[in-house]
Amino acid sequence: MRVLRTAAAVRAARAELAPPVGLVPTMGALHEGHLSLLLRARGECGSLVASLFVNPAQFGPGEDFARYPRDEERDCRLFAEAGVDLLFAPALEEIYPSGHATTVAVTGAEERPEGRSRPGHFAGVATVVTVLLSLLAPDRAYFGEKDAQQLAVIGRLVRDLALPVEVVACATVREPDGLALSSRNVYLSVEGRRQALSLSAGLRAAEAAFAGGMRDAEQLRGLVSERVSSQPLAVLDYVSLADGEMRGEIEGAVSAEAVLSVAARVGGTRLIDNVRLRP
Ligand code: PAJ
Repeated sequence: MRVLRTAAAVRAARAELAPPVGLVPTMGALHEGHLSLLLRARGECGSLVASLFVNPAQFGPGEDFARYPRDEERDCRLFAEAGVDLLFAPALEEIYPSGHATTVAVTGAEERPEGRSRPGHFAGVATVVTVLLSLLAPDRAYFGEKDAQQLAVIGRLVRDLALPVEVVACATVREPDGLALSSRNVYLSVEGRRQALSLSAGLRAAEAAFAGGMRDAEQLRGLVSERVSSQPLAVLDYVSLADGEMRGEIEGAVSAEAVLSVAARVGGTRLIDNVRLRP
């Protein structure tokens, strides 16, 4: 595995990669969720490129940028074991050189629940992903459904800017008890982790009710909020039931594919999760 740290070096190396080139962007602190993206891309692509960059632009002032888990040595070992050919691990100035003044904003992203809770977050994500796609010019880029609104924003951005890349959505990887894997799970206490299960349990309850014929959006959201709100360490941020591209909230009956998502703080750690409901 080659590890490259400058924009100039990755641009030069791009020409030598066997097609199709697959890209898996990450912020490191790798877990099985990241590895599932890497393994899928490895199986489908001629070359596998990954990026490791904790992007300050997508963290708000009160968020965890400074304490975000970082362990480059471990990550490098896992990237190599997953079959990564080229790892791009840039310093800040390579992505945001002095004078950097362009932000990519997807209209509407800030009005949806996750964007509303994290002002500036999706502009930070859209901007860094645009830079990575431009520098690495992958044929395919792999993203997790775990971050459902991020996936929707990137899909929109790629279509709107006519970027020549296929966005591949990968299923959420969970612990056996249902907890969605996240780099932030390491912040949870033992009791916090137990109560964090209410997010996936609530989503599963709604999924089961939906399979049993429940179609009312308010009732489905209620099944999730009930579970999460009953946990003393959990502070519910939102429960959302949106259309498949997460452009707007569903009121009344669900009649087409929809995304049920939840965000909560559990003992101070912000967690998100979602499921797709297909009638
Ligand atoms: P990060 O949180 O490191 O996640 C990298 C990729 O792994 C994202 O596409 C994310 O959706 C996916 N992922 C995380 N947990 C997952 C799980 N349990 N199952 C499946 N996939 C999972 O998301 C980011 O980084 C950043 O916003 C980034 C896109 C790299 C831009 O900075």
